[in-house]
Amino acid sequence: MNKFTFSYPTKVYFGEGVAADALRQELPKVGKTVLLAYGGGSVKKSGVYDELKELLLASNKEIVDFSGIMPNPTYTKVQEGANLVKERQVDFILAVGGGSVVDCCKVISAQAMTEEDIWSMEYEQGKFPTAGVPMGAVITVSGTGAEMNAGAVITYEEKLWKGPIVGIGASFAVLDPAYTATVPPLQVLSGAFDTLSHAMETYFGSSDADNVSDDVALAIMRNTVTNMRRLLTNIHDMQARSNLMWDSAMAENGILKVGRLTDFQAHQIEHQLGAYTDCNHGQGLAVIHPAYYRHILKDASEKFTRFAQEVFGKDTAEGGLNALAAFIRDCGLPTKMEQLKSKVAITPEILRQVADTCNIIKSGPRELSREEIYEILCECL
Ligand code: NZQ
Ligand code: ZN
Repeated sequence: MNKFTFSYPTKVYFGEGVAADALRQELPKVGKTVLLAYGGGSVKKSGVYDELKELLLASNKEIVDFSGIMPNPTYTKVQEGANLVKERQVDFILAVGGGSVVDCCKVISAQAMTEEDIWSMEYEQGKFPTAGVPMGAVITVSGTGAEMNAGAVITYEEKLWKGPIVGIGASFAVLDPAYTATVPPLQVLSGAFDTLSHAMETYFGSSDADNVSDDVALAIMRNTVTNMRRLLTNIHDMQARSNLMWDSAMAENGILKVGRLTDFQAHQIEHQLGAYTDCNHGQGLAVIHPAYYRHILKDASEKFTRFAQEVFGKDTAEGGLNALAAFIRDCGLPTKMEQLKSKVAITPEILRQVADTCNIIKSGPRELSREEIYEILCECL
């Protein structure tokens, strides 16, 4: 194991019906004015919004409504939220939604506490936020694990850039699998594939082979695949949804990463693909992963063989990779660029720009050249 420091700042309330108990315990600790932040309206249709509003009012909170946080949240939306927080002197942010709402709120939290532009602060001066408006997260669609870390992924439209901005993490998270009941099936599976990707990208990092974190990562991958298969039989299987909800948190709360380096090259490629196309994150990953892994199979053949055996019950590295590709197809996830919902036609020229602007990871099985990333992307056309 490499050296590590690990601490856990987010308190998790997990299970059906836990929101009331969670908010009764947490709301007395925070100030009066609460930013109730959410996306495009699914929480209003599902009834979650009304339930939370009632709990906030019962705790004598004053609500400032902040709606319309879009999938792949934008930097403009972050600034809109931060201005509102400052203007209305918000004491606490309650983020209600998935990775997009939670990420947007993490950066709003930090941006509202500083006069500096947070992107410039982080990317030009190398300074990271240390304070933010306190926040909590109520998850209504799972997969990203965004509720248990401080990192956010934001699209900066003018810069044609999608990437990480460090924000302030939630002090508590409500994970109620029943809140995900209304999520469309394709989104449920896309989110779960994102979870699988997080565990794979962590496991395929270049650090030493004998590592307890790898054993945990393999267990999370196996459990994610098993429960995604259960959903293919019955999309409403609540036991499967709850396993996946915890798999999601486990894959991104840092536990799998202790003592090791990670890869996350597929994520870097997908994020820039998202900057150009606004495609769905989990679906972009589903397209990219098999092509990327075909390129690096020989650079981590022992690890790929273990992955094949322990996650898909196959004997060889190639067998495992074929099983991963077949699994993606069985889930009905996209396998080609043309199947992704995109705001522009995905042409070789767009892919060239994605390859030329994405981050290149040095801690994966092998450092890729921009030319090879372009090849990988073109293989997905
Ligand atoms: O906007 P609404 O109307 O709420 O609809 C959302 C959205 O269209 C819908 N939805 C949410 N809860 C629902 C529901 N529909 C019906 N019933 C419900 N209960 O689901 C759609 C997708 O939501 P979104 O939050 O975008 O999905 P996800 O959780 O997959 O988040 C994706 C974002 O997270 C980033 C991604 O890059 C992307 O921007 N990521 C964040 C990470 C992190 N912070 O750790 C790690 C990930 O690798 C990822 O990059
Ligand atoms: Zn992801």
